[in-house]
Amino acid sequence: MMKIAILGLGTVGGGVLKLLQKVNEARTDSKIDITHVLARDIKDETLDLTGIIVTDDVDEILNSDIQLIVEVLGGVDFPYAVQRKALERGIHVVTANKDMLALHLNELAQIANQHQAQIGYEASCGGGIPIIQPLQYSLNANKINKVMGILNGTTNYILTKMADEQCEYQEALAQAQALGYAEKDPTNDIEGDDAARKIAILSRLAFKVNIPLERVEVRGISQVDQQDIQLAQENGFTLKLLGKSRQVVDAISISVEPVLLPTTHSLANVKLEKNAIFIEGDAVGQTMFYGPGAGSSETASAVVSDILFIEKFGFTGNLTTQESGHFTKSITDHRYYIRLEEDMSLLKERLTAMNIKYQLWQNDEITAVLTATISEPTFKALTQELTLAAYYQIEGE
Ligand code: HSE
Repeated sequence: MMKIAILGLGTVGGGVLKLLQKVNEARTDSKIDITHVLARDIKDETLDLTGIIVTDDVDEILNSDIQLIVEVLGGVDFPYAVQRKALERGIHVVTANKDMLALHLNELAQIANQHQAQIGYEASCGGGIPIIQPLQYSLNANKINKVMGILNGTTNYILTKMADEQCEYQEALAQAQALGYAEKDPTNDIEGDDAARKIAILSRLAFKVNIPLERVEVRGISQVDQQDIQLAQENGFTLKLLGKSRQVVDAISISVEPVLLPTTHSLANVKLEKNAIFIEGDAVGQTMFYGPGAGSSETASAVVSDILFIEKFGFTGNLTTQESGHFTKSITDHRYYIRLEEDMSLLKERLTAMNIKYQLWQNDEITAVLTATISEPTFKALTQELTLAAYYQIEGE
């Protein structure tokens, strides 16, 4: 019987407790023994804590004969210190804490390997969607070229509402918050930082190199204008906030930004709070993993699967990566949507002078251009000294 503790009884922790109790009930063999819970005030009266020690002293837990901790506290410094201490004692860790993992996973993995402890983090990216295990095991015969994902439910909800219902940005954000998708501080969702942490974790696994978080180029959706969404829609494109990374030899391009996808692309049809991760491998070709990116029981599904995996297989080894990788956006060429604050004639002149073909998109409200495929440096040179009202890369063609 494996002894475990749950650290944090918020939305995810409460969901984990309930789901584990359900799984235990259905089992005829030995149960998972939830011995401790780390919590201060427990607000959720539907939780059954019979036979579980509730404490706010983490050392009481780590000093017991616990075999695995589930860290779903949130925050960075305290969870990092606790996980480190647990791993140094050979205690397995299961966590959903992407904020902490994006900064410390490699170091924790090294410590864990020294002490034969396993780290499970299926719930850290894409909530309930199986993606960490597929990248670790199911796709391990592939060289992964590309990872592209809708990794944040809040922003996907907002963009869907703006596109499909012409909803204003602020109203859509308020709805996402009321539905509980947004982080405590929605800035991390809106400005792309939440998605940046997830694409960093996924890309580390996919390309097996260190991805320092500061190497992810991040642009969120706070500047997105309803008019550009509508004009793009009229021309068969959908605006999505994508975490995306590519590797060509040892060069990696990694970013989070709003991009335009053809409406026929599988990711363009991922709506509202749903998440999806699109992966391209040399053997498998294109695959997509779709589902709920957040939620109590949805995220618990991923957490509990890690617990059950570790119960069955114990220490299987944690990926540690090296400081290689050269980060640049210029390995990828794209078509670009560009709209200027000023008269578009300046841009048209430059496009002609630089011999770049383009299409004009216009409706009663605005005019924009769609360039032919150009490199990132060419885009920069083209738009230098112009005041851009909006620009988006076109992906997925
Ligand atoms: N705030 C996140 C989202 C929750 O909107 O997707 C899951 O990490």
